[in-house]
Amino acid sequence: MSSSKPSSSFSSTMSLTTQAAAGDVADGDMDYDLVDEAAFFGRRKGKRLRAYQAGLIETLLPKLAVDVSKAIDPASLFSKTPARLVLEIGFGGGEHLVTEALRDKDTGFIGCEPFVNGMAKALACIADDDIGNIRLHMGDATDLINRLPDACLDQVYLLYPDPWPKRRQRKRRFVSDAMVEKLARVLKPGGEFRFATDIDDYSGWTLVRVMRSAHFNWPARQSSDWLNPWAGWRSTRYEQKAQREGRPSVYLTFLRS
Ligand SMILES: C[S@@+](CC[C@H](N)C(=O)[O-])C[C@H]1O[C@@H](n2cnc3c(N)ncnc32)[C@H](O)[C@@H]1O
Repeated sequence: MSSSKPSSSFSSTMSLTTQAAAGDVADGDMDYDLVDEAAFFGRRKGKRLRAYQAGLIETLLPKLAVDVSKAIDPASLFSKTPARLVLEIGFGGGEHLVTEALRDKDTGFIGCEPFVNGMAKALACIADDDIGNIRLHMGDATDLINRLPDACLDQVYLLYPDPWPKRRQRKRRFVSDAMVEKLARVLKPGGEFRFATDIDDYSGWTLVRVMRSAHFNWPARQSSDWLNPWAGWRSTRYEQKAQREGRPSVYLTFLRS
């Protein structure tokens, strides 16, 4: 393990320091209108990090960061080879990632999140609960996925990805035909890709792209299969925001064939 740098696409949007110090907008708020067309990530203003959180970014993150500058050997990431390996893309504040890691200590979890405030929150939970089965990448999940070996993951979570609501912005969505193929490569046969959204158009968008891949099945049979969350579900911050604003969620489970 070694410290990883944010990807160049992320750096071009906004440096981590600037992002963390950016100011007064509620933590986690995203203004999709402020986005520079050339940039990949949206501009997200966060609260200034408290000294403790900044310290965790400096000292704990380098110990847990996955080195994405070279091929990743999943077996070498953890002190004990985990029984299963799970990836969470864009974990926000880490509520779901941390809950899952505490519940299932035999599984190794890799969480990706470019937003420094979210990373700091997750690190605080990891430190408080002395969690040993999480590794992290503060940057674009694509950089990490590209360095994973074939068929190494049991599960991938993509929970409430940035919606990019405007038609001209949709090419920025995390789910694309190319990404579906990348996920197919790193998932084991029978592995799961779990996707949740509160954006109607994004559930249809994802269904179309995953179902036109030759590598996935969608075993849902009735509406309860996509309207109910997964067993033991820990609601995320964005899901709670969606609920407050009256948007129901959809939960899609795709199986790698
Ligand atoms: C709408 S938020 C949802 C956060 C969290 N999953 C939740 O449900 O509360 C989307 C998250 O994805 C992260 N994100 C966006 N693009 C990403 C990428 N390419 N790789 C990893 N994370 C990304 C954002 O920083 C943001 O925290």
